[in-house]
Formats: sequence, C-alpha cells, structure tokens
Amino acid sequence: MKESQFLNQIVRSLLAGQLKAAADPHRPRWHLAAPVGLLNDPNGFIEHDGRYHLFYQWNPLGCEHRNKGWGHVTSTDLLHWQHEPVALLPTEAYESHGCYSGSAVSDEQGRLTLIYTGNVKYPDGSRTAYQCLARADGEGGFAKLGPVLDLPAGYSGHVRDPKAWHDGRRWLMVLGARTLDDRGEVLLYRGDTLDAWTLVGPIAGSGRGGLGEFGYMWECPDLFPLGDRHVLISCPQGIAPQGEDYRNLYQCGWLVGDFDGTHFAHGAFHELDRGFEFYAPQTTQDSQGRRLLFGWLGLPEENEISQPTLEHGWIHQMSCPRELFWQDEWLCQRPVAELGALKGEQTRFEGAPDELPALAIDSAWLDLVLCGEGRLGFGAVVELVWQPGRLVLRRQNWQSGEWEARSAPWLGGKITVLCDRSSLECFVDGGRQSLSTRYFPGENPVLSARCGGDGSKICLDHWPLAT
Ligand code: FRU
Repeated sequence: MKESQFLNQIVRSLLAGQLKAAADPHRPRWHLAAPVGLLNDPNGFIEHDGRYHLFYQWNPLGCEHRNKGWGHVTSTDLLHWQHEPVALLPTEAYESHGCYSGSAVSDEQGRLTLIYTGNVKYPDGSRTAYQCLARADGEGGFAKLGPVLDLPAGYSGHVRDPKAWHDGRRWLMVLGARTLDDRGEVLLYRGDTLDAWTLVGPIAGSGRGGLGEFGYMWECPDLFPLGDRHVLISCPQGIAPQGEDYRNLYQCGWLVGDFDGTHFAHGAFHELDRGFEFYAPQTTQDSQGRRLLFGWLGLPEENEISQPTLEHGWIHQMSCPRELFWQDEWLCQRPVAELGALKGEQTRFEGAPDELPALAIDSAWLDLVLCGEGRLGFGAVVELVWQPGRLVLRRQNWQSGEWEARSAPWLGGKITVLCDRSSLECFVDGGRQSLSTRYFPGENPVLSARCGGDGSKICLDHWPLAT
C-alpha cells in the first residue's frame, strides 16, 4: 500500500476506534497499549537526547497479525507516554509483509537510527527477510534508508529482529534465525558502520553450548552486559513442556555467560517470566546506568482469538517497565522505581487470610509477606496459591473456561503484585522470578484470601495506583 493511502486508513481507524478502545473497562490505566489495533513486541527501546523512546509492533488497521509497522511513544519518566507520529509503515517491496521487530541506536553523529526487519512473503508460502535502516528526519518521522543486509547462506527466510549496539570500538548486532534444517539460533554480526555488516557466526542456539535440541527458531535476541557478565535474552520456539517448565506455546528466557566480542560461553536456559503472557522483551541501558526492560504481555497465536478487548477494537499491552539486576548470580527483575510515584494512600493488613478486607485491585500495588499456605483471589478468575517452596498462578481461561496453572519456585521472600485492569504482574522473592498474565475480571474486582491450614498468615501493604 502507498504511504498516503496507509495514513488515510490509519486516520480513519483512529477516528472510528479510539474512543471505543479508551472506553473499554479492560483498558490499562497506566500500562502502554496501542490506541487501536494490535500491539506486539517492544521495539527500538532507547534513551536518546533526554527522552525514552519506545516503539512497538503495531497493526493500526485491525487486531490481526497483519500490516505491521512501528508505533512510537516517548516519555521522560517511563510512566507518562506521548504518542508520536507512526515511525514505520510497510510501504516498500523489501518490507511488503511487515516492518518487523528491531532496535534503535544513536549513530556516529548522534542521530536516532532504527534497524528493523523487512519481511517479505511469497505466494508459495516461502519468505525472505532484509535488515533495514531508517533515520530520524528531524520532524518526528523516520526516513527509510533501505536494506543493508540480506539472508546469510544456510538459513531460511526466518532471520529477523536485529538488536544492535556499539561496544566502543565497532557496531555489533544479534539476529534471531532458523537454519534450513530447522534449528533456532542467534547470529552475531559486526560492522564498522551501520550499513556494512559481516557475519561472525552463531553464538547460541539449538544444539549449541550444551543446550541439546532447543527449538526450530529463536526470536528477538538481546545480548548485553550486566555487571561483569553478559546476558542473552531470546525467545525459542518449538520446545515441549517439561514438568512445570516451558508451559507456554513459545518460550522466553535468559542465558548468562562471558562474551569476548566473538563467542558467548554460556550456561543453562532459564525462563524470564513463568506466567501465561510474556514474550519478545527488549532492554536498553539508560543514562543512570540501569538495564531496563519492556516485554509484550502477549504471545503470538495463543489466547488471542477471543480476548474480550477485541470487541473494543484493540488487543495486547506492554509489561510495566522493569529493571534488571543480579542477586546471588541470578537474573532478577523489579518494577522501575519511578512507578512508586503512582502510589496513592497505603493500607496495611496483618493477620489471618480469612480476615483480609476486600481491597480494590482495579489498579494496585501489593507487597506481600505470606506464611504457611493459602490462596489469594484476584476477582473471581485468578488465584495465587502459596505453599512451601512454590507459588502457583491459576487462572480461568477466557477462551475455554478451564482453569490452568503456571508456577514458580519460591524461597518464602517478599512478593510484589502489580494489577492494572486486565493485567497482573507478580515479582517473587524480590524479583528472582516473575509471573505475568492478562485476566479479565468483572467490574471493581477485589482481593480475597483463604487459609490453607495452621500458621496461614498475610502481611500486606496495598496502594491504589493512578497516573
Ligand atoms: C515476535 C515476532 C518477531 C517478529 C514480530 C512480527 O513476537 O514474531 O519475531 O519480528 O513478532 O510482528
């Protein structure tokens, strides 16, 4: 579609749909969601010239995975976001089936530059991919510079999601890839400039680094230093559930290791979030030196078909902004400190679960110390079950009506839960584990609790959250 036609259709879609989307009782109060249409991966997360920029995969014309361009928002505090002109739309032949995920950098002249995947599908079902550049045009938009890299030999058309950075000497970039024989890998490239890349080789993936068979495709890789180690986050597809692990359709996890600019010697794969909806996260380092992360509170294909928000013409949202840190050599996540500014009046409760007052959780921050065993109910459709060594997040699936569960090990430490209308993010043991989910409670949901036996006790701090 031509750009002018596309823009006309977006205007029509926004005029017709924005009020309806905003009026949805499931619409988040403070999480990021697209004004209309479908949002998926966070893209191009960067702090540039004193502002945080976040881009996102966006179908502005509907709630299906089509017409993918990049929406764009900016903020100075990670809480209040301003919508900017749409950054990328798939108008060129080299991106005919979507301006897919990618990242943002400040180039050698300090210009905000996007690197993304131009996805091209053919009628026979095959596809190809180009890694492409676009640069800020000084008027709030981005000028496309076209493809700078096509497919490497030996790989399928599934090579995408460039995450680029400068290590002080040269540009580096990781790409998610699927080999011709269906192994998922992360490829490392090196470049003296952003438009001249050389393949260094695969740095992780199925059959590599002691992982054994580990999926047919790895999406959205992100490699970054944290303290004196490096972390690789990526999303492998094609891994079967194993006991309590890998319960979602696709996985999202991290590997810690040492990166020498060429090789990444790493340990085991750990899930980054053990809840129902969390995928394709992206990080950036901000000017305070923090490693910040946004994830998509969704999953491709799974549980999308009948999400209640579809009636209001929008689907999916981002996670809260999170900060990554190490604790006992384990990658942990906590909501960024800025979120504290949204807290209203505090309520404290300490006592038996059955005596818990009905606290409003429409939009709330809960800090919990839980003893013995018991259950916390979030409205009628989600439960957090605590028992020695284990936390179980149960929810009633809005599509099937069945109850389903995800769980995480629990050392008995503090639990923080953020509720925002239709999402719940749970940080366990001060952030060693996280469990995120969408849920669709009725109006004015409240917290409830049940004892699970002797010694069952709750210490709770509750704050309503509002922007
Ligand atoms: C992950 C993903 C990426 C791709 C994008 C398309 O959710 O499939 O690999 O670039 O979404 O929207």
